[in-house]
Amino acid sequence: MHANEADFAKYLLEQRVLTGITTPDLRAKFLGKTHALPFMLGPVGFLGLYAGEGEMKAARAAAKAGVGFCLSCFSIASITRLAKQVPAQPMFQLYVLKDRSLALDMMGAARAAGVKTLFVTVDCAVTAIRERDVRNGFRTLTRVPPVLALKLAQRPRWCLEMLRQGKLRVEALEGRKEFGRGVLAQAAALSARIDPGLAWKDLAWVRTQWPGKIILKGIMHPQDANWAQQLGMDGIVVSNHGGRQLDGAGSTISQLADIAAAAPEIEVLVDGGFRRGADIVKALALGASGVMLGRAMAYALAAGGEAGVGAIIAHLAKEIEIALALMGCPDIATLRAEGARFVRQV
Ligand SMILES: Cc1cc2nc3c(=O)[nH]c(=O)nc-3n(C[C@H](O)[C@H](O)[C@H](O)COP(=O)(O)O)c2cc1C
Repeated sequence: MHANEADFAKYLLEQRVLTGITTPDLRAKFLGKTHALPFMLGPVGFLGLYAGEGEMKAARAAAKAGVGFCLSCFSIASITRLAKQVPAQPMFQLYVLKDRSLALDMMGAARAAGVKTLFVTVDCAVTAIRERDVRNGFRTLTRVPPVLALKLAQRPRWCLEMLRQGKLRVEALEGRKEFGRGVLAQAAALSARIDPGLAWKDLAWVRTQWPGKIILKGIMHPQDANWAQQLGMDGIVVSNHGGRQLDGAGSTISQLADIAAAAPEIEVLVDGGFRRGADIVKALALGASGVMLGRAMAYALAAGGEAGVGAIIAHLAKEIEIALALMGCPDIATLRAEGARFVRQV
């Protein structure tokens, strides 16, 4: 987790002067579309716990800014309701479940909601020990202990937003009593059903079931990237799940160039530790076609709701614009095509 953020310092941007470039063009082509900016909002579970109707707020902020939004299958709002309430084409993230019929149902709901791009997350077959989740009782909590009650009392607005949402639940599991009642029980039950034995042959099966684009999320090795390409995937996300899975894995920015070189025919996105516009500029110069935000979006949502997410998007856009102008780079297409001219490893 720390390496994801720290390793951006190993790459330097080239400052060039007197180029006359003042307002670079930040539009970026990835996932078959031209986006207003070269980044999108990645799948983070339970955005509806960061703010009331959090999924809607994040998706709305993304739509207003012309950037993509991917809904996690671990969400309070369903993809069906999201597509109805937010005027933009959402993307959807899936964990392949042991119960393939449930995975198929989720894919079916996504298709019906107009989803064209499916992110299949493959780095969570085995869930790591998340020490903060254990300490905070996330997923195991059955009652509110005094320490938590005290913390909640200090966040009346959040409490009010949660109460307004009514009973929190995973809408996609409506009518499936076997997943238990309440959002934490459902989250735990869903987690337990992720297929720990998932293998490449299963991905071939997903390929036959989904007619749109499939992006494998959680690739950290050039060989795996190459297999994804050979299996007919449309792209990958170089990701270590924000440093939440394999403790000791490398940072994504340091593996990006090698991985991109191993899968030249498919789309290569990246996430992990992106906090600054300059971080995004470095990734694009090193071979990524787009960047995905995790915590930057989630924290903005918690702090300021839809306006908070809008603000972080605008802030990053401004930083990218300034960086490109100071580098004498006219647009994102040039940054990507001539990456080696703009970034240097130290
Ligand atoms: C709290 C949290 C929940 C997440 N939930 C999901 C999820 O449901 N599905 C998924 O594919 N990735 C999930 N991720 C991983 C993110 O999509 C992304 O890979 C990661 O957050 C990127 O790193 P960053 O947070 O440093 O930007 C989650 C990450 C965090 C921090």
